[in-house]
Amino acid sequence: MRRVNFYSGLDIDLSLAHKYDFNPYYCNIESSLSDPIIIDGKEFINLASNNYLGLAADKRVAQAIAQAAEKYGASMCGTPIATGSMVLLQRLEQRLANFIGLQDSIIFPSGYQANCALFLSLAQSEDLIIIDHYAHASLVQGVRLAGCKVKPFLHNNVSHLRKILEKSSEYKRVFVVTESVFSTEGSIAPFDEIVNLCAEFDALPVIDDSHGIGVIGRSGRGILEEKNLDNFDGIYTASLGKALANTGGIISGKKELIDYLKYSCPGFIYSTALPPPVLAGIEAVLDIIDKEFPILSERMWRYKQMISNCLIDSGFELTEGQAPITSILIKDLEDCARVAKMIHTNKILATPFVPPSVPPNENKIRLIAGANLSENTINKALDLFRKIGKEVNLK
Ligand SMILES: Cc1ncc(COP(=O)(O)O)c(C=O)c1O
Repeated sequence: MRRVNFYSGLDIDLSLAHKYDFNPYYCNIESSLSDPIIIDGKEFINLASNNYLGLAADKRVAQAIAQAAEKYGASMCGTPIATGSMVLLQRLEQRLANFIGLQDSIIFPSGYQANCALFLSLAQSEDLIIIDHYAHASLVQGVRLAGCKVKPFLHNNVSHLRKILEKSSEYKRVFVVTESVFSTEGSIAPFDEIVNLCAEFDALPVIDDSHGIGVIGRSGRGILEEKNLDNFDGIYTASLGKALANTGGIISGKKELIDYLKYSCPGFIYSTALPPPVLAGIEAVLDIIDKEFPILSERMWRYKQMISNCLIDSGFELTEGQAPITSILIKDLEDCARVAKMIHTNKILATPFVPPSVPPNENKIRLIAGANLSENTINKALDLFRKIGKEVNLK
């Protein structure tokens, strides 16, 4: 029967999880992103979340969210264009644009949705999109939806990008798409060079700064500040669910672009606005960043350095990350599963990345230490990594 075939075609391969009696995905967190977090009733050190500045469980943010819920309720129950745009939304869109250093922005329910919606509404069949081949799934998905010619360039490789741009004159418009901080390995794009190349070849740069906003740049304003790109005239996107510790996604850029999207982007027009409490939570995080970024970022970077040094001393191979992300590189998939289980058994929550999230033989275990963790907690994690380093026997 067709229905039976349909369901039997939905099988997933969990053989590795069964072999090691360990499935790291969808674990049961019973607390906030506190220090420690509670998983299945047990205390864990959280090195998994993208909670870079440690603000997800900050009392001031929670209070702002609670007050907004009290005042504005839970939901707008409709799309901003059809049922009204909350004053909080308009204020936050402008504040985020000012924070990044751009003219205006538009807030989507998620970063994934922003990236998909962007290409669907902007790219046309005569266009070319050139994209870093390590780019996030949401960018890849969005680019596929665009229905125009797509060419990948080698990861962070400006000479390869130049070669593709040299052969791009037949296309009506050319977009060059990349991420600022690549989240599985912590590398940072040479975005200043990419912007210069785009100017030379009359292409439009598009940057996803999801892991850069609130993290890099002198005052946490992300990739444009980090690379001193004062007059950026390309397109900027970011998730608000990482250092900004809430949820949502933005597209930011010139006013003409944002006005166009507000009246013509199906992914915005036909989707319910972010709930008012979330908008208030993001504002509260921006207030904290304005005042406390130097202290929080010093801690975030120090923890990253402590973890990276300890792992190298304990015999692990790391990716060359320049961001506050430490990724253990384990070529063999079974070794990766084994080490991930050892880390979990030692009550550290980490994120294993295996294909298709990363290329084959580039399995990684990612560690991000939020600034909310105490130095004591980090030292405890280091002792555990030293112990695991002695016990593990990598091929
Ligand atoms: C680089 C990048 N872009 C976009 C997204 C999607 O953002 P969101 O989680 O807000 O949908 C993510 C999240 O995983 C990401 O890492």
